[in-house]
Amino acid sequence: NNLSERQLKTIDNQVTGWLAELGQQVRQGLGANRSVQTKEGDFRNLVTDLDKSNQAWLLDHLRNLDSQAHFVAEEGDLKRPETMVGHVWFVDPIDGTLNFVHEKTDFAIMVALYVDGQPTLAWIAKVMSEEIYHGGPDLGVFCNEQKLPAVVDRSLDQAIVILSGRRLLSGEKPYRLLAEKALAFRVIGSAGISFVRLLQQQATGYLSKLSPWDLAAGRVLSESLGYQVKRLDGEPVNMLLSNTVLIATNKMHLETIKVIKD
Ligand code: IPD
Ligand code: CA
Ligand code: CA
Ligand code: CA
Repeated sequence: NNLSERQLKTIDNQVTGWLAELGQQVRQGLGANRSVQTKEGDFRNLVTDLDKSNQAWLLDHLRNLDSQAHFVAEEGDLKRPETMVGHVWFVDPIDGTLNFVHEKTDFAIMVALYVDGQPTLAWIAKVMSEEIYHGGPDLGVFCNEQKLPAVVDRSLDQAIVILSGRRLLSGEKPYRLLAEKALAFRVIGSAGISFVRLLQQQATGYLSKLSPWDLAAGRVLSESLGYQVKRLDGEPVNMLLSNTVLIATNKMHLETIKVIKD
């Protein structure tokens, strides 16, 4: 990318500060009555007024910071990314909306910056524990001020693997195979929190079909710690589309591809 280390640090600090502020607003408003609607006729696909107001607040601030950039965001009419040329920002204003509505925890706010297709900077705010995961390939990855270590290369039989529960339930083969071969599996309900588990090395792999805004931040941060982020056929992910994506250590990644082929 074309940004100097100093510029990257400035942007990192700026956006980290905004997410701290937004997180505090979200925690303070947690008792408020939310308008909850469903999308696409699916009773599990929820959106609240906070998804929309968070997105508007973040886009406002990000457009001020980087007016020439493209923006991709889940709610409204920025869902269809058209290009990865130049600066592209991805925003998921609440990731894990169902958790947010029903559990009041295990949801995240995610932001990522790609420059000419290169993963550059990202943020995952784990709002309820006041943790902001941030950084990128040039700066390293931090939980608040603490730098996170590179990932230990665990194998599949030592792996706690996070899976999409719905896809496992519907019997899709790769999900079933990972559930069978891994040490244990988990269903979290938020891509952002799943990525946090990987960054903290509480999990070794994650398999799910993810939209660009679900994947963008977690990809930057997990790749920066040494995880493989690939489609199941081993091809690179396409940030303009939804991908079935496996995030895993090198060992688990190779073993999974072999297990699926056999
Ligand atoms: C969802 C969550 C969930 C994942 C879905 C996403 P949302 O995001 O990350 O874990 O399985 O695919 O859509 O809609 O709550 O932002
Ligand atoms: Ca959603
Ligand atoms: Ca999401
Ligand atoms: Ca969302």
